[in-house]
Amino acid sequence: METLEERLPMQALIVGCGDIGQRVATRLRAMGREVTAIVRSLPAAEALRAQGLQVQQADLDQAPPAVRAPLVFWFAPPPLQGDTDPRLRRWLAAQPAAPARLVYISTSGVYGDCGGRWIDEDEPLRPLSARGRRRLDAETALREDAARRGGHHVILRVPGIYGPGRLPRERLQQGLPVVREAESPWTNRIHAEDLAAAALHAAAWGRPGAAYHVADGHPTTMCDYFSRCAQLLGLPPPPQVSLEEAKQRLTPAMWSFMEESKRLRTERLRQELHYTPRYPDLERGLPACL
Ligand SMILES: NC(=O)c1ccc[n+]([C@@H]2O[C@H](COP(=O)([O-])OP(=O)(O)OC[C@H]3O[C@@H](n4cnc5c(N)ncnc54)[C@H](OP(=O)(O)O)[C@@H]3O)[C@@H](O)[C@H]2O)c1
Repeated sequence: METLEERLPMQALIVGCGDIGQRVATRLRAMGREVTAIVRSLPAAEALRAQGLQVQQADLDQAPPAVRAPLVFWFAPPPLQGDTDPRLRRWLAAQPAAPARLVYISTSGVYGDCGGRWIDEDEPLRPLSARGRRRLDAETALREDAARRGGHHVILRVPGIYGPGRLPRERLQQGLPVVREAESPWTNRIHAEDLAAAALHAAAWGRPGAAYHVADGHPTTMCDYFSRCAQLLGLPPPPQVSLEEAKQRLTPAMWSFMEESKRLRTERLRQELHYTPRYPDLERGLPACL
């Protein structure tokens, strides 16, 4: 079998080069690849330039730049409002040709609630939240563009990302409650480093138009996650309350995650993308966040 390095082109563009983008860029540059990053803000652009990256500072909501790259990683989120992703749609419309290969980070929120069942990537897409509907719109835009103009896109359906600097410290410090274990929804997670590595594997081995779960394969409850994070950070464990009480006390955005329970199967990640997470569960992943 060819190696990862042999399957990746010499140039890549990262649209939305934040935390995950920078992790991907570091890996690509270690393989001698030329990386261009698109970010919106001047401080972000300057910080990336200081690291030696080529940077285009552009607001994708205003004038998305036309670019030619053999490989594009699309990591910019949709806007915070609405049911669609005009940011991605506008960018696709501004490209003279379909991207030769594009890896898109979506979310597992596109499935909506699955009552805690184990699901694979063929599960019907029935988003409950506007957040999930925007991602479904982005996936649809990519599929429509590929049908019209060709091109190759791969979708990564990603659950909660955790990693260094990405633990729920503030929420725990505020003493916000979690739903008690018996009623707590299932959640899935992926360590940020595993997501970055999996994105490269998707670029190398992803089937055109296919979707892949990028999760560690060991879902636990929300209650378990927050309790473990508190322990790791040396903070008091979050108070455990009933589902009903949590609804009163959490913000609507936080609550929207409580209404969705599912367990993500990861066979396709492992078999088709040839990627096995380095951090297969919280026991091993959380200590690597400090
Ligand atoms: N948090 C989670 O658990 C989770 C779960 C599933 C999927 N995701 C998604 O995973 C993707 C990667 O996450 P991440 O942590 O790397 O995100 P991040 O650190 O917030 O980075 C987002 C990047 O997008 C850029 N961006 C945003 N709006 C833009 C605009 N209008 N024009 C140009 N650039 C724009 C930002 O540039 P500036 O910094 O200059 O604004 C930044 O470089 C995101 O789409 C995220 O929503 C996250």
